[in-house]
Amino acid sequence: MTAPLLEVENLNVWFDLEGGGELHAVQGVDFSLEPGERMGLVGESGCGKTTTALAIMGLLPPSASVAGRVLIDGEDILAGGEAAMRPHRWVDIAIVFQGAMNALNPVRTIGQQIVESLEIHDRGKGAAARARTGELLESVGIPAARASRYPHELSGGMRQRAAIAMALSCSPRVLIADEPTTALDVMVQAQILELLDGLCNDFGLALVLVTHDLPVVAQLCNHCSVMYAGEIVERGPLDVLYHAPGHPYTRMLFAASPDLGMGDAPVLSIPGAPPRLDRPIDGCPFRPRCDSSFAACVERPHLRGVGDDHAAACHLNEMVTA
Ligand SMILES: Nc1ncnc2c1ncn2[C@@H]1O[C@H](COP(=O)(O)OP(=O)(O)O)[C@@H](O)[C@H]1O
Ligand SMILES: [Mg+2]
Repeated sequence: MTAPLLEVENLNVWFDLEGGGELHAVQGVDFSLEPGERMGLVGESGCGKTTTALAIMGLLPPSASVAGRVLIDGEDILAGGEAAMRPHRWVDIAIVFQGAMNALNPVRTIGQQIVESLEIHDRGKGAAARARTGELLESVGIPAARASRYPHELSGGMRQRAAIAMALSCSPRVLIADEPTTALDVMVQAQILELLDGLCNDFGLALVLVTHDLPVVAQLCNHCSVMYAGEIVERGPLDVLYHAPGHPYTRMLFAASPDLGMGDAPVLSIPGAPPRLDRPIDGCPFRPRCDSSFAACVERPHLRGVGDDHAAACHLNEMVTA
């Protein structure tokens, strides 16, 4: 059996807090991704999605401690530190950072920024790098002639396309897109999703689509992991999660999401907020907000199989199968 393209095993991240103490942002996250697969990583803000993504890329700040394994083609790229990570970062696995379209360098044209990223990674210089930049821009739907534009001369959607082109400069096999459509209007969101869909099809890219927005995942992914309070609380095929959720959080997330295209459907929100992660959590982290909690929920449930290719961390499933 060959190893999966990307495998994340028991990933944990703690941040040292300035005032003392620590915050357990990612708690035992596991998943794997095959070539060309598209996985959604979904959950409300503060659930640990971005921290998971940055840990996989080895790009967390020094205040973070990371434990667990991140394997590419079966090779652990976390264990060997920066030296082991560097040959893989951007080359095998790349990320479009949350807010990337607003983080482009304002005093360099988008073309210059892509040329620089090609040069830094030894993917060509001078005229060859400029030609490759034109191709990359065209591949994300930006006419090559616009390479000479500065970020402020482009719309939000075009800046997001430029950020995606930059992430693709070394032709990675896995792309992590962190909230790539957040802050874009619905029409432009749809165009960016269409672009990601095309890139996955054309280049066989595997995608980890990070978002708080379930309908966005539904448009692009067939598989989804749901994060809550730092851990994956449910994973499975998207249609199974929709029709037979194994966790009340997933069910409530779907209920809280208007369908794309029916923009004025009422949005129900889940009452309350995710728990703080800078103190231990007693029992099920979703219990205070759950409409189905019962006596067993004082014990923290663990992720376990509840069906074919479907796992959830909820005691209700033990009731069903008992
Ligand atoms: N650099 C940091 N230092 C301390 N805490 C952080 C840092 N980055 C994120 N956190 C905390 O980690 C938790 C998860 O955050 P994040 O991964 O950004 O969630 P998400 O992307 O799901 O919104 C939150 O409680 C957040 O406040
Ligand atoms: Mg985030």
